Amino acid sequence: MQVKVVIGTIAFMLTMIILGYAALREPERLGHFTAAREGRTIETGAKLYTDNCATCHGVDGKAEECYDAAGNSITCQGLPLNSYFLVCGDAPARLEQTRFEGTKQQFVERTIAAGRSGTVMPAWSGRYGGPMRDDQVQNVAAFVLNFANEEFCAQEPITFDWPESVDDLLVLETDDFVATPGDAENGAALYASYGCNACHGNVDEAGSNQIGPWLGEIAEVGATRVEGQTAAQYVYESVLYPNNHIAPDCAQGPCTNPSAMRADYAFAIAGNTPQDLIDLLAYLVGQ
Ligand code: HEC
Ligand code: HEC
Repeated sequence: MQVKVVIGTIAFMLTMIILGYAALREPERLGHFTAAREGRTIETGAKLYTDNCATCHGVDGKAEECYDAAGNSITCQGLPLNSYFLVCGDAPARLEQTRFEGTKQQFVERTIAAGRSGTVMPAWSGRYGGPMRDDQVQNVAAFVLNFANEEFCAQEPITFDWPESVDDLLVLETDDFVATPGDAENGAALYASYGCNACHGNVDEAGSNQIGPWLGEIAEVGATRVEGQTAAQYVYESVLYPNNHIAPDCAQGPCTNPSAMRADYAFAIAGNTPQDLIDLLAYLVGQ
C-alpha cells in the first residue's frame, strides 16, 4: 500500500515537471513560429521588390544601380529606400520632412499602397487601382523596413558643419578639411555618381530632365530664384536643404512641396568629402 502511494506521488511529480517544462517552452516555440512567418513575409516581399520596384529603387534599395527588364543599366528614378533617414529609429527624419504624422510602417505602407501623386511613384494597392493585394503591399513594406537591421542603423550618418554661406565653404580651413578651388571636370563625374542626372537630366541637353528642373541654365536662373542670393548660394542650399526653397517648374509640371529631391545629400556628401560640393558647384555655376 505504502509503495503504491510513493509511486503515485513520484508519478504525479514527474507529470507536473513535464507539464511545467512544456508550459515554459511554449512562448519560445510560438516565438519560432512568429519569426518563421516574418521570415516568409520578408522573403515574399523581396521577390515582389525585385519584380516591381528595383527598376526605380535599385539593387538593394540603394537607388544606385538600376536595370530595365532586358537587363540594361538605366538611371534610377526612385529615392533610396535602404536609407537611414527612412528606416532607422522610431521617427526617421524623412517622416518629419514630408510632414507625415504616423509610424514609419504606416508611412512606407501608405506610400506603396497609394503611390505619390505628381511623381512617377505608382500606386500598388488594388484599392488605388494598382496591381497588388494588400497582403502583398504589406510583404513588400516589411521587406523595405527590414533594411533597418541593427548593424545598418548603428552607423549614424556622418555629419559636417556646413557653413551658412557658400563663400565660407569655398575658403574653409579646419583641422579636418581644407577647401581647394572647384574642379568642374570632377564635378561632372560627381553629377552622375551622386545621381543628380537621374532627376535633372544632362546639363548639355535641354529637356533631358525626368523629375526635377533642368540645370543647364542654373548659373543664370539660380541668381533670380531668391532675392539677394547668388546662383552659387542658391544651388548650395538647394543641394543641402531641398525644402528651403521649392523651384517653380519640374519635369512633370509644378514642383511638389515638400521637395521630391533626395534630402540626404548634406550627409551623403559629408560621408565622402565636402570638396565634392565645391566641385559640383564649379560644374553647375562656374567659379
Ligand atoms: C530624386 C530626384 C532628385 C535628385 C536625385 C536630385 N534632385 Fe535636385 N531637385 C529635384 C526636384 C524635384 C527639385 C525641385 C524641387 C525643389 O526645389 O527642391 C530639385 C531642385 C534642385 C535645384 C534647384 C533648381 C531650380 O531650378 O531652382 C538644384 C540646384 C538641384 N536640385 C541640384 C541637385 C544636385 C546638384 C543633385 C545631385 C547632387 C540633385 N539636385 C539631385 C530632384 C532631384
Ligand atoms: C517608376 C518608378 C518607380 C517604381 C517602379 C517604384 N517607385 Fe517607389 N518611388 C518612386 C519615386 C520617384 C519616389 C519618390 C516620390 C516623391 O518624390 O515623393 C518613390 C517613393 C517611394 C517611397 C517613399 C520614399 C521616401 O523617402 O519618401 C517608398 C517607400 C517606395 N517608393 C516604395 C516602392 C516600392 C515598394 C515599389 C515596388 C512595389 C516602388 N516604390 C516602385 C519611383 C518608383
